[in-house]
Amino acid sequence: EHKTTVICANILDFVDDPAIAGEQAHRYFEQGALVIEQGKVVALGYEKDILASLADNNTNHDNVEIKRYDNRLIIPGMIDTHIHLPQTEIIGAYGEQLLTWLTEYAFPAEKKFSDQEYAVAISKIFLDELMRNGTTTALVFGTVHPESVEAFFTEAQARNLRMIAGKVMMNTNCPDDLSDTAESGYQESKALIEKWHNVDRLSYAVTPRFAPTSTVEQLNKCGQLLKEYPDTYLHTHLSENPGECSWVKQLFPEAKDYLDVYDRAGLVRKRAVFAHGIYLNERELCCLADKDAAISHCPTSNLFLGSGLFDLSACEKHNINVGIGTDVGGGTSFSMLQTCSEAYKVQQMKGNKLSAFKALYLATLGGARALDLEGTIGNFTTGCEADFIVLDYQATPLMDFRLKHANSLHDKLFALMMLGDDRCIEETFILGKSVHQRDKAPASSEV
Ligand code: GUN
Ligand code: ZN
Repeated sequence: EHKTTVICANILDFVDDPAIAGEQAHRYFEQGALVIEQGKVVALGYEKDILASLADNNTNHDNVEIKRYDNRLIIPGMIDTHIHLPQTEIIGAYGEQLLTWLTEYAFPAEKKFSDQEYAVAISKIFLDELMRNGTTTALVFGTVHPESVEAFFTEAQARNLRMIAGKVMMNTNCPDDLSDTAESGYQESKALIEKWHNVDRLSYAVTPRFAPTSTVEQLNKCGQLLKEYPDTYLHTHLSENPGECSWVKQLFPEAKDYLDVYDRAGLVRKRAVFAHGIYLNERELCCLADKDAAISHCPTSNLFLGSGLFDLSACEKHNINVGIGTDVGGGTSFSMLQTCSEAYKVQQMKGNKLSAFKALYLATLGGARALDLEGTIGNFTTGCEADFIVLDYQATPLMDFRLKHANSLHDKLFALMMLGDDRCIEETFILGKSVHQRDKAPASSEV
C-alpha cells in the first residue's frame, strides 16, 4: 500500500479566470489540507473534513504523514511561460533596447553554450534559481546549440521537473557562429524531439528566435516539424519593440502584419506561445484567438528594455490565452511574484487594475492553460501533479508589519505580490517531494 501525505496550511488555487468567473474563480481553504499520493493530488478541502474522511476510510495510519504549515499559504507551483536559459549570466545588463541589447549582451553569452559542460553548469544554477523562486514549470529558450537543450533536459529530468524547452533556430541576421541553416536546424530539432519529447515530464518546443533571424525557408521548416510532431510546442517572440516591428515589415513585405509572418508558415496554433505581443492590431488579436495560440506577458523585460506596455484587456476582450513570463535575462527577476508586481504597474499605466487574484491566476492556471497543461499542473484538481509551494507572508520585517494592516484575503495576497520575492518561498515541492527549503544554507556556485 502506498503512502499518503497530508499537507495542512491555508490553501489557494484557481479553477477559472477571475475576469470571467469572478469570486468563483478561486478556491481558498483557511486551515485547509491537500492530500497527495504517488506524487498526485487526491483531495483538497478543509483540514477537519479531510482528516475526518481519512479516519472514516479506515486508512492505515502508519502510511499517513501529516505536515503542518501554520500561518503559511500554499499555492500551486508557478509557471514561467517565457525564459532564456543562456541569459542567466547577463541579467540586468545596462543601457540598451532590444536589438542592440541582443548583439551587445545576449549573443556573446549564448556563444558559450557550444560547450556542453558549460551548459550543464548554467542549467544547474538556472534550475536552482527556479526552485528558489517557486517556479516549478517553465517554457525555456536554449541556444542554437543542441548541447544547450541536451544539458537542460538531462538536469531537469534528474530533478523530475515538468519542463518545456527547445534549441533556437536562426539562420540569418545573426552572428555566423550562432547560426544554423534551414536544413541543419530542422535535423537538429528533429533529433532532439525524437530523444526528449514526452520523456518523463519533458516536452519539446520548436523555437525560431523571432522573424528577423529566420528566412521564410526556415520558418517553413518549423511548420513542417509541427506537422510531423503535432503535440510539440512552438515558442518565439512577437511584436516586442517598435524598431523590431518596422524591421519585420521591411523583411517580409508580403505578410499582412508581424503575426502573419508566422501564420504563413503554419506556426500559429494551439500550443504556440508568443512572447510579448505588445504592438498587435485587431487582425492579429483575432487570429491569435481563432487559432487558440497564447501570449506570454513579460513585464519586467518590457520595462527594462523600454519595449512598451502590454494591453492585457485587449487580450481579455478577445479571449486570448495569456501567461506570465520573466524573460530572464531581458527580464530582471526570476521571481514570478516580482513579475506580477511589475504586471500590476504596467496595467496601472494603461488605466487598468490587475487584482492579486488575476495575477496569481496568470502565474498558475493561466500559465497551465497557455501551455495546454490544464488538468496536469496549475491547480489542485484531483489527478494533478503535486507541484506546489509554501509561501511566507511575513518573510521580511516590513512584510510582517504590512500584514498586520491587511484585513482581507485580497489585501494579504496583494501585499505578498507587491513586496514578495524569493524570500517568501519557504519551500518548493515537486511531485509531493520537498526539493527546496529556504532556511537551509545555500549552495555556493563555482561557475
Ligand atoms: N527577440 C529575439 N530574441 C530575443 C531575446 O533573446 N530576448 C528578448 N526579450 N526578445 C528577443
Ligand atoms: Zn525572450
